[in-house]
Amino acid sequence: MAIQRVKSKWAKTKVLLLSEQLRERIPVTKRWNIPELEAMLDEHGMVYVKPDQGTFGLGVVRVEKNADLAYTYQTGTVPQRFGSFDKMAASLQKRIGSRPYLIQQGIPLLTYDGLRFDIRVMVQHNPKHVWETTGIIGRLSHPQKIVTNYHSGGVPMAFDKLMQPHVTQPQIDSYKMWLADIGKSVAAQLQTRYPRLKEIGIDIAIDESLRPWILEVNTLPDPYIFRKLGDKTMFRRIYRYCLAYDRRMK
Ligand SMILES: Nc1ncnc2c1ncn2[C@@H]1O[C@H](COP(=O)(O)OP(=O)(O)O)[C@@H](O)[C@H]1O
Ligand SMILES: [Mg+2]
Repeated sequence: MAIQRVKSKWAKTKVLLLSEQLRERIPVTKRWNIPELEAMLDEHGMVYVKPDQGTFGLGVVRVEKNADLAYTYQTGTVPQRFGSFDKMAASLQKRIGSRPYLIQQGIPLLTYDGLRFDIRVMVQHNPKHVWETTGIIGRLSHPQKIVTNYHSGGVPMAFDKLMQPHVTQPQIDSYKMWLADIGKSVAAQLQTRYPRLKEIGIDIAIDESLRPWILEVNTLPDPYIFRKLGDKTMFRRIYRYCLAYDRRMK
């Protein structure tokens, strides 16, 4: 039977929220509506608004309530500023139209050389049919972008390198084990609802206090970003596992 893919971020988030252990790692996420946007901005100051079924960072918007009570949102490289919440929300609503969108608590990402980065954790069924975390990689954002996706100018980079300005090497090593565990828990939780999953790619934000947050889970993760690393060890295993469960490679 074919490998299972699930497009709706909302559906996947709901399954993850059923796990008590994972719940605290998930930013507050709501379905798009204007009163909710206002409440979320009052609460969090910064939110991400994104298509329920998006990929590649397309259609993702970062929205902020500023100290002077003006509002800004940004999709591409240029932030747009509005004098009131209503004007901002009306403009955003026009952009979204009737498509299903989500509002998510914004996580202030850790930076490297002044650029934001987040993490992709690859978890796969290994040849023994057991979930295994096979890859952890960072993605450094393009200086002007609000997303880190490779297809939006993000640069894949070694996790260790991105973390070195923040913590010691032994701390990096234990953080990686922590991420690997979170990855396996996410896979196991999703599998309760989606039994034919074989691979997932989890986007994890690390905030300024080094707390990990699950931004989204991809069920058709790109293995090739791991090939961008100088060290091909992770990529080789990822690729081998893909072939073992008959994933059709591009
Ligand atoms: N809640 C958030 N806080 C901070 N950054 C976010 C948040 N949601 C998304 N992002 C940024 O936008 C990127 C794309 O969002 P994501 O939810 O992964 O959608 P896509 O399916 O398009 O990849 C993420 O990799 C991250 O860099
Ligand atoms: Mg993503």
